[in-house]
Amino acid sequence: MEKARIGLVGLGTMGAALAANIAEKGFTVAVWNRRPEVTRDFKANAGALAANIIACETLPDLVEAIRPPRPIILMIPAGDPVDEQSAALRPLLDAGDIIIDAGNANFHDTNRRMAEDHGGVRFLGMGVSGGEEGARHGPSIMGGGARADWDSVADVMQAIAAKAEDGTPCAAWMGEGGAGHFVKSVHNGIEYADMQMIAEVYGIMRDGMGWDAGRVGDTFTAWNGGVLRSFLIEIAGTVAHTADPETGQPILDVITDAAGQKGTGRWTAIEAQHLAAPIPVIEAAVMARNVSARRAERASGEARFGRAPQPVQMPPDDLEQALIAGKILCYAQGFAMIRAAGDAFGWTLDLPEIARVWRAGCIIRSDMLGDMAAALEQDGTRNLIFAPFFAGHLETALPALRRVVTGGIAAGHALPALSSGLAWFDLMRTARGTANMIQGLRDFFGWHGFDRLDGRDSHHGPWAVR
Ligand code: 6PG
Repeated sequence: MEKARIGLVGLGTMGAALAANIAEKGFTVAVWNRRPEVTRDFKANAGALAANIIACETLPDLVEAIRPPRPIILMIPAGDPVDEQSAALRPLLDAGDIIIDAGNANFHDTNRRMAEDHGGVRFLGMGVSGGEEGARHGPSIMGGGARADWDSVADVMQAIAAKAEDGTPCAAWMGEGGAGHFVKSVHNGIEYADMQMIAEVYGIMRDGMGWDAGRVGDTFTAWNGGVLRSFLIEIAGTVAHTADPETGQPILDVITDAAGQKGTGRWTAIEAQHLAAPIPVIEAAVMARNVSARRAERASGEARFGRAPQPVQMPPDDLEQALIAGKILCYAQGFAMIRAAGDAFGWTLDLPEIARVWRAGCIIRSDMLGDMAAALEQDGTRNLIFAPFFAGHLETALPALRRVVTGGIAAGHALPALSSGLAWFDLMRTARGTANMIQGLRDFFGWHGFDRLDGRDSHHGPWAVR
């Protein structure tokens, strides 16, 4: 068999799907898993694709099977395993070979790995989104590292990536160092926020309006035919329509109300604080996941203070418009954070390109991302809320968001993501804010000084304490 174009380590769900995708696109792929029987089974079950798969039982066999310079994708758990696997591979590799970490790495780890001396072995950090289905049939791929290293594997990545409606592959180089993993982490923060806003609206439907899961599903499915058209709205409809095979009940009524997380959304919130980039909708979503996990404490809260959400009726159109507004506000914050990171880390992050790469294949794919790409193309330096297309949408949708938030909160519904989006927006449209009070207080207790509106050269108050 001819030597492989590329290698892949780790045949778990995502790795196996990605390897099959590579083989299907006509590239020979050499694969290795730390359990040889998994590697053997993978090839044995690959059907016609087996012709493009070289199953390797040892790491030296894997390296030997790939045509130099050898690109090797790691599809293994993030963290220490990546360092361990790279250390095991490095002595077997030659200068110019490339280790590609395709897991959900913390971009700081990727920066560190790229700065380490690998004896000429190159390192790329690649964010891959789309779950198993995406990995198998077309993920969205966010590459990071040296441009030349990305270029040397771009043919494979573009072939296996999802294609947007206009046929463009959703795979691109994001920037140097950990830029690819950074962009993937913001993607995941937005993923958390999109899901939290869907869950908040679901809560109003269920606890406020008394809807059953079927009606919830019908509504999300209908919304997927409009401005909100997206993968997450589509599957919100599907999940709500699904019955539990064990009991026949709606599956939503048997799933525990405690969300898990592997941490990428949290990293985004932490990084936003470092960058002083406001992303309150994402932060609220991370907070809500953390609260959701505290089930026993929440039950005590309900026992002690009484149940919060009370019946409330709202026009379904208001709920749809609130989600539209919340989504625009959340993405505006996310893109602004990416811009801030580009400035802070010296990355030339191409915002329209990022929006384009997210149009298909990834979990947050949506029609709106095409419009965002166009708006960022027109002017990537202004916040998305000022792009005429989205400013217009916000003017239409904002009154409904305000009604949903005020009505929902008055009836005891927790709406952290939607309400923090609204609060951020109201701050963003207040030319004269209230931080003069904060400055006065800071100066009073700490002589921190303030600027004056009248421009006079006097920067402290006449505090008696001084
Ligand atoms: C994707 C997803 C994927 C995965 C995350 C979710 O883009 O395909 O983001 O990477 O679903 O690991 O992470 P949580 O477990 O933190 O929800």
